[in-house]
Amino acid sequence: MTAVGIDAVEIWTGNLKLDLPGTFAPQKGEDPEKYTKGLGLHSSSFPDSYEDIVTMGANAAHRLMERKGLEPDDIGRIDVATESAFDNSKPVSTYVAGCLEQVFDGDFHHANKGERKFACIAGTQSLDDAYNWIKAGRNRGRGALVIATDTALYARGDAGEATQGAGAVAMYISEDPDLVELSGEQGYGSADETDFLKPNQQFPSVDGKRSVQVYLARMREALEDFKSVTEPLHPDDFAYVPFHTPFPGMVRKAALLGYRNMVRDTSIEDELADEIGRQPRSEAFDDEEAYRDAVREYMDALKETDRYQEWYDATIDPTLTVSRNVGNWYTGSVHVARVSALKHALEEGHDVAGKRLLVGSYGSGAQAEIHAETVQDGWKEEIEALNVDEQLEERYDLDWEDYEEIHDAHNHEMDVDVEELTTPEAEFVFDGWGRMGERK
Ligand code: CAA
Repeated sequence: MTAVGIDAVEIWTGNLKLDLPGTFAPQKGEDPEKYTKGLGLHSSSFPDSYEDIVTMGANAAHRLMERKGLEPDDIGRIDVATESAFDNSKPVSTYVAGCLEQVFDGDFHHANKGERKFACIAGTQSLDDAYNWIKAGRNRGRGALVIATDTALYARGDAGEATQGAGAVAMYISEDPDLVELSGEQGYGSADETDFLKPNQQFPSVDGKRSVQVYLARMREALEDFKSVTEPLHPDDFAYVPFHTPFPGMVRKAALLGYRNMVRDTSIEDELADEIGRQPRSEAFDDEEAYRDAVREYMDALKETDRYQEWYDATIDPTLTVSRNVGNWYTGSVHVARVSALKHALEEGHDVAGKRLLVGSYGSGAQAEIHAETVQDGWKEEIEALNVDEQLEERYDLDWEDYEEIHDAHNHEMDVDVEELTTPEAEFVFDGWGRMGERK
């Protein structure tokens, strides 16, 4: 069976940066540690006035195609995943293709284009679509370009404002991939939820506290579902566990839930029994609240064990390094977490070829997906070729006045024009609604 998976990845960050402890916290009258320790965020990426989901997506795809020597004829499918779309009819992928046709020989007339929507999980759903398309043998030797691009902006003053972000992740999905092979098995947790919505509006209506609970509930269901189709899950089977990361504090909660779920009925639960007891079983409780309290108590104790801390430091913390400095990229977020983990492996000199990743994707509304991936031999060259640190370093640091102005400039309901804060160089720039980006 031919391996199918992610052959290459590229990241494009919004060109501006908002410092959370230094600039945001004083304006909000909050303790900076609420952001750095509580949410786990230090800064977020923000789009300059000439950047939008098309330009960031096209810039990421352009870098990827150029680096891999890909021509339009190599690509049979372009899917854009976004929850920041501006057109209910024409997909963002058509604009991205239009941008790329300005610089590559040939065109994408042969390519099947689309747009995937299910909040942040749409990026992973697009990967699944590409995988299925190739496995079905409908690709005629071509690969698929999957682009996850979002401007994750909230209304000013919304609790979500601290978790904003903007950026794009482009991925090339093919046979015999260089980066990771995707497995054909998934677990899902899905339910009709209304905690995070954008009904024909630019900024989301969010019940933030509830959204955290919904994320955890769907992730737990997805893990259970995944366990039903795979070998018993053991936490030490995975080199890294990248989760959807709206902010790192959310992943702290998801990781503990995942670990508890994975160690249930394993030798790890036995080994920890003397120290913290065994996991409560619902059958032993008549009262649901008492059961929930017992679970909470067990989780609090589990979190403090050396065994859990070591697992968290080795498999979860490395997935958060980039996210801490870019905020939420919605559809791109879990794919940034994968890059962050592999970047850590490269920097630490770990050879992770052949090792497995357990990937937890999530989208509000709400659905979680768990799947496994196997790192491929070419991973090192792929990750070495990225310039994530340089991109983050080169962002323009916003002061509060700049931030307010640029937020207004991106607000579709305001008619505000602001000067560009950075100078675009060899990149696509926003050229007016309904038009494609022009290459500067
Ligand atoms: N020092 C250290 N920690 C501090 C602190 C301080 N001085 N002050 C507060 N904290 C901690 C709090 O204890 C809390 O941690 P715990 O949750 O572990 O208890 C954390 O910092 C955040 O504090 P608050 O809960 O008081 O923060 P808030 O209410 O202002 O905002 C939020 C939190 C509701 C999640 C808000 O950021 C939000 O609405 N975000 C947008 C929605 C979101 O991202 N939801 C996540 C799940 S949905 C999803 O994943 C889809 C998606 O991408 C949007």
